[in-house]
Order: sequence, then C-alpha cells, then structure tokens
Amino acid sequence: MISNETIERIRDAARIDEVVGEFINLKKRGANLLGLCPFHNERTPSFTVSPAKGFYKCFGCGASGDSVKFVMEHEHYTYPEALRFLAKKYHIEIEESTPSPQYLEEQSQKEVLYTVMSYAAQFFLDNLWNDSKGQAIGLSYFHERGFSDEIIRKFQLGYAQDEWTHFTQSALERGFKVEYLKATGLMSSGEKQVDVLRGRVIFPIHSITGRVIGFGGRTLKADKNIPKYINSPESEIYNKSQALFGLFFARNSIVKENNCFLVEGYTDVISLHQAGIENVVSSSGTSLTTGQINLIKRYTNQVTVLFDGDAAGIKASFRGIDMILEEGMHVQVVLFPDGEDPDSFARKSNKEDLFSFLEKEKKDFIRFKADVLMKDAGNDPIKKGAVIKDMVQSISIVPDGIMRSLYIQQCAQLMQVDEPVLFNELNKVRRQRLKKNLSEAEMLIENDQSPAQTKPSEQIYPIVTHSYDQERELLRLMLNYGHDMLEFHQENDEGEDELITYSVFDFISADLITEEILPDHPVYAIIFEECRRLMPQYTLEQIHQYFIRHVDDEVRTTAIDLISPHYMLSPQWEEKYKIYITKEKDIIYHVILEALHQFKARRLIQIIEKEKSKLNEPVNEEELIQILENIKYLESIKKTILDDLTTVIYPK
Ligand code: UTP
Ligand code: MN
Repeated sequence: MISNETIERIRDAARIDEVVGEFINLKKRGANLLGLCPFHNERTPSFTVSPAKGFYKCFGCGASGDSVKFVMEHEHYTYPEALRFLAKKYHIEIEESTPSPQYLEEQSQKEVLYTVMSYAAQFFLDNLWNDSKGQAIGLSYFHERGFSDEIIRKFQLGYAQDEWTHFTQSALERGFKVEYLKATGLMSSGEKQVDVLRGRVIFPIHSITGRVIGFGGRTLKADKNIPKYINSPESEIYNKSQALFGLFFARNSIVKENNCFLVEGYTDVISLHQAGIENVVSSSGTSLTTGQINLIKRYTNQVTVLFDGDAAGIKASFRGIDMILEEGMHVQVVLFPDGEDPDSFARKSNKEDLFSFLEKEKKDFIRFKADVLMKDAGNDPIKKGAVIKDMVQSISIVPDGIMRSLYIQQCAQLMQVDEPVLFNELNKVRRQRLKKNLSEAEMLIENDQSPAQTKPSEQIYPIVTHSYDQERELLRLMLNYGHDMLEFHQENDEGEDELITYSVFDFISADLITEEILPDHPVYAIIFEECRRLMPQYTLEQIHQYFIRHVDDEVRTTAIDLISPHYMLSPQWEEKYKIYITKEKDIIYHVILEALHQFKARRLIQIIEKEKSKLNEPVNEEELIQILENIKYLESIKKTILDDLTTVIYPK
C-alpha cells in the first residue's frame, strides 16, 4: 500500500507537461501545449495539455485527465503501477519491503515478468563486466566490434555464459518460479530446465518507458547451423508488433531531429548511436508492423529507411514502406554501398563523412522505388506498364490529397508519362478501393439491421450531421489563394476557343451560390459572408488583417488558424530535401476541384442519410415508394461525384 501522503507528494511533483511530454511530442500553443493524441488515430493534433490547470484533453476523442490518469491510460498501468512509475521519475521514495517469495507471488503476473526480465538483464550485465570469462569473451567481442564502454553500458549489453544452467540456477535460487522463467523464454520450454541463451552476447530490448521486455542474443560461433540470433518470444509484456529496439534511447532525439532512422539490426542501432546519430530504431528481425509505425508516429512524421547494400532485400521491403506511407508519414530512403550495413559503414567512416553520406544519399521513397523498378523494366513497354501500376498503387494509399498530387507529378516526370495518364490510373485504383469500402460499410449496415442485434433505430444508419471539415477546407483555400487567377478554355457562341479567367474566390463562391450550398457551421458561414463582402475591394493581406483584429473571438481564432502556415506544406521540405518542386499553389486548380467535390459529396451523403432516416418512421406505401425513389436518385448523383473524387470520404 502506498500512503496517502506519498500519493499527494507524487501528484504534486508530476507536472502534466513533463509527464505527457515524455511520451508524445508537444508543441507550444499559447498557454497550452498541443500534440497528436496517443489514444486515437489522428493526423492533425487535437490533444491539448494545460500546464497551468494540470490536465490533458483531446478534442478529437474526448480523452482527458491528470498525470496519473495519463500514465494509467497510456501504459495500461493500474493505479498503483502508475503511482510507482511517477514516483520513480520524480525520485520520490515509496516505502516497500524487499521482494520476498511471497511478495512475488502476490504481484500481478505482468509485474513478475518485468521483475524476471530486469533480474536477467542485471545478471547478463554482471557476467559481462565482472566475470573473467565474460570479460574475456563477451566484452572483448564488443570491443572488437568497436563499441565503446560508454555505449555498452548505455544499452545495458550483457553476456550469457556458455553453460547449461548458469542463469536458470541463479534465478530459481532467487525464488523465481519455473512458469515465469519459461514465460519469458529464458528457460527452455521442454522437460529439462536449461538456459536458452548460452554463449551469446545479449542485447536487451526495452519498452518505451525503459523496462526490459526481451532480449536478442547473438552467437559468437561462426557455425552456419547455429541461429545467429535468438530472440525472446512474445509474452504478456513483450508484444513484438508494438516494440522497437532502441526507441527508448531514441525518443528525445527523434523529436528533436523530427526524423526517425529505421535500420535492420541491433548493431546498426548501436553503432549509429555511437557515431552521434541517436534518432534510430530497428524492428529487429520482424517485418515492420502498423503498431511499430504508430509508435514512431507519436514522435515524428518522417522516417528515413536505411538499406543494407544487398539489392535482394530491397524490393521485399517495399510493402513495409507502403505501410508507412499509408499512415500519412513522409518516407525517405538511403541505400548503403554494396556489402555494407549502417553498422559497418559507421565504423569505417568518421562522423562527418557519415553525416554527409546520409545527407547526400537520401532520396524520397517514391522516387527511389520508381528508380529501382524502372531500372528493372528497361525499355520493355509491358514491364513499364506494370511499374506504373505499382507506383500508382503506392501513391494511392497516401492519405493526403495534396501529397498524392505532388507524387503523381513527380512520377510523371521520372517515368516520362503524361500526368493525366497517372491521375486516371490513380482515380481508378481509388475508386475500386472506395467501392470495396462502401460495400463493406453497406454490409455492416445490413448486419446492424439483423434482428439478432436490435439496436436503437437511430443507429441503423451512420448519421452524418455536418460537413464542417469540408467547409473549412474551402474557406482555407479562399483565404489563402482567393485572388489567384484561374484560366479556362471555353467555346464561345461562334465556336471559337476562348480563354476566360476567374479568381479562386469567384470560382468557389459562384459554384456554392449557384448550387445553393453554403457553409452550415455558424462561424464558417460568417467568414464566408464577410469574404463575399471584402474580396472584391481589398487585398488578401488587408483581409487577413481584418480577420486578425475581428471582434468576434471565434471568427478571429478560426481565421487565424486558417491562414496559419501549419496548414500549408512546409517550405522546409523543399529546402531540406530538394524534392517538392511543386507547391500547393501550382496545382491549385486540382486542389480546389477536389475540395468542392468533397464538400458536395459530403452534403449529398447528409441528404441521403436524412432521407433514409425517414424509413425509421411509420410511412404509408405511397410515401415509402417516394422515399425509395429519392434515395435511388440521390445515390446515383452521389456515385457520379464519388467517381470524380480522388480521396475517399466517408461519414466520420
Ligand atoms: P543481420 O544478419 O544483418 O545481423 O540481421 P546484424 O545485426 O548485422 O549483426 P552482425 O553485424 O552480423 O553481428 C539483422 C537483424 O535481423 C535479426 C536481428 O535483429 C538482426 O540484428 N535477426 C537476424 C534475427 O532475429 N535472427 C537471425 O538469425 C538473424
Ligand atoms: Mn551487421
């Protein structure tokens, strides 16, 4: 039991911004801090931390609470576990007796596994530093590899003696039960109670909070029949698809550099660290999972994949990288020279050469993939066609419409294909996926209607109550590009081709007004009305100033948000990576059409929902036929609009 006094001290010490900041990347936003919510999937930050008030709140999913609650939710800790975690962080002493066998018995299964792992890590570490064989074999192996004492200590590397029961014996004497030693994979699962890791150097795998959850053990024998690495099996505390080797040591640097290097092996991570590159993790033997990608995404939106210089593995890894794109992250790749991995390369070169090599060699993934595949295809038109399909497939999963358009342009240049060809292909792929998604959604709806699962009637159809996101996007375009001119070719009465121009604002507002669809959101409606009044007379700069000084709080903050640069593609990308030659401004027509279509489609879905909801009320046959016809008609328009869309929109 932890005393109330201690609990108070912990609560007082645990500053919400520090506690949350340890897990997610927070940026200052006025008096508050803002970041991506760890409790639901989001791309624009709505997770707010108020240091003054001591709480967090997510405006996306509604999660909220204080420091203790955060640690409980985030780490899946119980209340006392969360308190212990915070006590440790703030060096607050909790009175507790030394672990007796009985105490171990009482603790939760999970906690015991952590204790076993931590005991083992210390055991292997002792072997390495304090045992003569450990020093002669393990430590000198690490030294030979060029690892410094400092880095060996930092990663808590160890050595397991080449004996059958060295660890097992000690752990049993210490009071750990056989079932737990087996559950952690440290004792063999068979009859004989023997060590699994024997004669191997040990790489501990840490959880995001620095607890040891598993080990990788590398053999020191050259024998090809022996597995090079033995890795801990999954357990209650080690979920491989949710852990990354090195992440605990890399977190801060990933945030600072706003980039995460992804490598293949344990030694790559450690060598790069030693060379001064600390923002590096490895998925260590498993193929990359969405869970792992989401771990990285808590800290940065950019991943740089480092490939060993053996061509074989590269194409196989494309699927994994597509998964990173799918999460809306930005991916770059670096290919190392033939026969080198990041570890060997880092050891050979000095720090400056390593940094400049990475800087020079990094390529945008889409470009890299196109290069690799095009090289294979040569001039064979059939193979080239397949490459185009493959590339478009990759691009089609990028969630952001602007990014997709940019990638298409880039690919068109690289592969010397006309852009419209690629856009057509892109639309085709996305349409197919949309249809699939829609029919899945429809199946869900049908299932909901089955008598077995009677639900309240209003839940039968997903109800779309607003189109605020789409309205907001249109306002953003008006406020940022309102006076840009768009040119169109049109046939005049004499059948001649005529060039006509519209401003972005006129183009959008004319479309909305003729179709009689205006913003629903009260604040967006005001901004739109005021834009209609101001646009013809003032410059954009003057209009911005007008909104920045607006008397209405909500209008002012919303407008400021819309003209803030975080809604724009970062100009840094171009400077830093020399890839994005095209800006949103240059493809504004495409962006506007997409935004208009999104808005209309969303509105239409709303109208259809409303029509469908009438079916939940008692109607006579005549009315029923009328409603069904309306729905059919509306669905057909929806289909036309959706067919034109490149981005999937579906009720939130
Ligand atoms: P590598 O074979 O490239 O090993 O496997 P490495 O990390 O470069 O090690 P050294 O330099 O030869 O000592 C890359 C990663 O794949 C996993 C390990 O995580 C390893 O670090 N792996 C490899 C296994 O899990 N089991 C194996 O048998 C081999
Ligand atoms: Mn290696």
